Amino acid sequence: MARHIPREFIDELMQRTDIVDVIESMVPLQKKGREYMACCPFHDEKTPSFTVSPQKQFFYCFGCGESGSAIDFLMKYQNLGFVEAIEDLANRAGLEIPRSNRSDNFKRLQGQTDELLEVLNQANLWFQEQLKSSPDRRIAVGYLQSRGLNAKMINEFGVGFAPEGWNGLTKGLGKTPSQLEKLMKAGLINNKSNEQGRNRYFDRFRGRIMFPIEDSRGRIVGFGGRDLTDKGPKYLNSPETPLFHKGRELYGLHRARRAIGKQKRSLVVEGYMDVVSLVQFGIENVVAALGTATTPHQLQHLFRLASDIVFCFDGDQAGKKAAWKALKTALPELSDGRQVSFLFLKEGEDPDTTVRSTGAESFLREVDSAIPLTNFLFESLMAEIDLDRMEGRAKLASLAKPLLMDIPGITLRSIMFDRLSTLCGTTVKPDESNQSSRPRIPTTDAKRRSGRHIDGQLPLVAQAVSLLLQDPSLANKGPNFSALDELQEDGLDVLVGMLDTCCRNPDVTTARLLERFRDAPYHSYLEYLAFRDHQVPENLLVEHFEEIILKLLARLRKQRHDDLIAKSEQRPLNQREKEELLSLQQERIRHTAQLEE
Ligand code: UTP
Ligand code: MN
Repeated sequence: MARHIPREFIDELMQRTDIVDVIESMVPLQKKGREYMACCPFHDEKTPSFTVSPQKQFFYCFGCGESGSAIDFLMKYQNLGFVEAIEDLANRAGLEIPRSNRSDNFKRLQGQTDELLEVLNQANLWFQEQLKSSPDRRIAVGYLQSRGLNAKMINEFGVGFAPEGWNGLTKGLGKTPSQLEKLMKAGLINNKSNEQGRNRYFDRFRGRIMFPIEDSRGRIVGFGGRDLTDKGPKYLNSPETPLFHKGRELYGLHRARRAIGKQKRSLVVEGYMDVVSLVQFGIENVVAALGTATTPHQLQHLFRLASDIVFCFDGDQAGKKAAWKALKTALPELSDGRQVSFLFLKEGEDPDTTVRSTGAESFLREVDSAIPLTNFLFESLMAEIDLDRMEGRAKLASLAKPLLMDIPGITLRSIMFDRLSTLCGTTVKPDESNQSSRPRIPTTDAKRRSGRHIDGQLPLVAQAVSLLLQDPSLANKGPNFSALDELQEDGLDVLVGMLDTCCRNPDVTTARLLERFRDAPYHSYLEYLAFRDHQVPENLLVEHFEEIILKLLARLRKQRHDDLIAKSEQRPLNQREKEELLSLQQERIRHTAQLEE
């Protein structure tokens, strides 16, 4: 999608955008010297390590390593897609996304999204209306009463009713072919051709209590329908549509957001009813996956709001199995400081029935005593193993090791290995060669780790890129670099391209430079370079940068020199080559002499 918006427009937009304004509208910032600080909105902390630099137009958190431009901030904080973030910034800047074939495409997509949202909203109103006025409303109202839902919750969650019968919604909202098409696209109706080959439309949801599902921005993107008739599956969800992806949304997330931040914990339950009941009992930091196992995307979102997640599962075998699945998904998200626990309820109970029978206080006590993932991991593995036997201990090591290698948090992982070693009665160590059992793009952790280790010995090209990213004006102050692109060295094309861009756009910022590399595989490495502490004092920056470029130019001469020598061993050099070699040798002598002075 990113490709549909012209790059020049994105660049212009970034030039007109001030990241401080954007972030400040959502997170209160405090000025500290040249930068702005706040408690990081992406992880849990008491002292601010979230930094916004107006010069670089970049944010960075020294605590969790999240970083990026205003676009990235919107994408991460508001959970927006790239195009949505651009659109938001364009709105703020009062810019129109330009008219071209490409942006027509963008507008068309945007228009379709708006239309879908509109029709989903209308449908929700229609379902709510049925709960008030449909002839069958008594069945629905009676059911909700029997489940103990009060009017306030019905209203707050926008609960509605899809009556039986084939085409109530179709007739109510699908008055024109284009409306029918939108209803189809929104997953609200289906069609089938009858014997005469005529297309018949009919409602997807029939005889059901309707729960609207909102995305993290509070827009209705789909529905979950609870069966009232024992005719179909107990719950039916909207199908995947351009707006609705089961693995991305969490039921109740939008309204739970604030409570999760405040309690510093999110509760993940299995059902819609569980969410509504817990909220009715005053427990608001609760969300549910949509009938599928929790996905990495969902976990990442929750971890951004609070570093503590408690899953509630039924205490039976199925619950344990689901918990194990959740554990495996959670391991790769466990940076140090994050924690996951599991609450297993009495067999046959769910959070809805539990909170109704024992009350909120007792439920919350159970939540507090949930089993930490770390314990659950070992307990589950040990359940099938006889630790009194050597074979058993070896088996435990071989089963646990790959799981522990998935944990990115260095401290947590090492504590887990200590524990494994104790259980096995011998030292079990992580594989050194393979830091993690799965391939992974550099995570923020990896970035920070590399920051500690490599910093001093960063390759020259990376040093230059780093300085340039942090202060693009250096490009105009350094020596002439036009010959540099002949040097064969990793990343040199990036450096030369960047120097070129900086020279042609004297007011370019860090964020705008980085934006050009958004799709590059090494983008996160560039982000790291853009915020790495290079420890060069301000007044020596130009000199230092110059030195690096000169060193690179010297390398180029050496490379050229060696090439010519190698050539001369195969055939006689021509006149031009001879002259070049001579001048390279003279220059070399001059430089050595200078160094010895
Ligand atoms: P449960 O079977 O635990 O139902 O399914 P529940 O939420 O306790 O429902 P009530 O209390 O009987 O009304 C948990 C979740 O799994 C999904 C739904 O998201 C549901 O909320 N599910 C369940 C389906 O998608 N389809 C089904 O047929 C059943
Ligand atoms: Mn239930």
